[in-house]
Amino acid sequence: MSEKHDVSGVPTTGHVWDGDLADFTNQPPKWWMLGLAASAVWVVVYWLYYPSIPVSTMGEHFKGFGGWTAIKEMEADKGAVDAVRGKFEAKLKDMTPAAILADSELTEYVKRSGKVLFGDNCAACHGQNGVGVHDKDGLFAPILNDDDWLYGGKIDNIHESIAGGRQSMMPAQKDLLSAAEIDTLANAVAKGQPLSTPLFAGKGCIACHGEDGKGMEAVGSANLTDKVWRFDSSVEGIKRTITYGVNSGDPMGRVAVMPSFKEAGKLSDAEIKKLAVYVYKFGGGKADAPAASVEAPGNKSGK
Ligand code: HEC
Ligand code: HEC
Repeated sequence: MSEKHDVSGVPTTGHVWDGDLADFTNQPPKWWMLGLAASAVWVVVYWLYYPSIPVSTMGEHFKGFGGWTAIKEMEADKGAVDAVRGKFEAKLKDMTPAAILADSELTEYVKRSGKVLFGDNCAACHGQNGVGVHDKDGLFAPILNDDDWLYGGKIDNIHESIAGGRQSMMPAQKDLLSAAEIDTLANAVAKGQPLSTPLFAGKGCIACHGEDGKGMEAVGSANLTDKVWRFDSSVEGIKRTITYGVNSGDPMGRVAVMPSFKEAGKLSDAEIKKLAVYVYKFGGGKADAPAASVEAPGNKSGK
């Protein structure tokens, strides 16, 4: 039963709360009613367009008249991504790693797309982002995000490391050196003492590590003077490296094998190029020596 509100004159439902709170019977505003009607229409359209009724007596669910499926939508999205990628991939296919590096747009693309490639193929040994993985014997594989390189940090050196793999070799010295000599050498290396000693030279260390022990990129011998350690850097650890060598075949020797990613067809040429640029861009890549200034012969102006 309804009554009129004594001040506004609007009919009320007759309920009164708290002494003076009355419930009016006003209709909702017109815009609201239109919205309600529109959404009712929208629901019907939506139901008919999209797959909406999960079960049916016919044994098949209702597929909607729009033909939409999640798979189709995903494929359309993927197609759009591939179109963008395809442009870059086609371009870098015939370029050298150095040329890719010189193209800032391509380099940016490689920095983004190389992450998954590196994660899938390299991170297990070199660590995510090349930070290195340590085990009790030192580093499992060299750190790639610093500027210390066994085989050189120019783009072509890095490319070669990945394509061809690397396997350095230091023979076990246990039959060539006395325990005292190994002790002297290990202490000198550990303490950063100068290595241009008669012992270092006389025992053939210089053949691979160079006269001053700074290492040689051609054979991937470590720089022994830079305090960047590949293997256990305690005196005992260094003694073990010298005594048993690296990849020497001695069961006590250190093992350091970088698989070739080209040989087994594990990665395509384009992928290897991308990874070379990606690794270079960790920050430790080294620029090629600037081209010597070219002066045409016979062009001296008499000075
Ligand atoms: C099974 C472990 C392993 C995997 C996988 C691996 N590497 Fe290596 N990598 C090594 C080892 C060990 C060395 C050092 C080899 C040596 O000392 O002779 C090395 C060396 C390198 C070097 C030379 C470093 C220097 O200081 O000159 C580069 C560059 C490199 N790896 C890049 C990669 C990339 C890129 C991938 C992925 C495509 C990869 N590696 C996958 C173990 C691995
Ligand atoms: C035939 C070449 C060769 C000769 C000879 C050689 N080395 Fe090496 N040495 C290497 C290579 C290559 C490595 C680096 C292996 C790696 O990092 O993958 C190495 C690594 C080392 C390391 C480990 C460095 C680190 O960062 O952990 C020490 C220490 C070392 N050599 C000392 C010596 C001494 C001392 C002699 C002389 C008695 C000697 N080596 C002779 C090739 C050689």
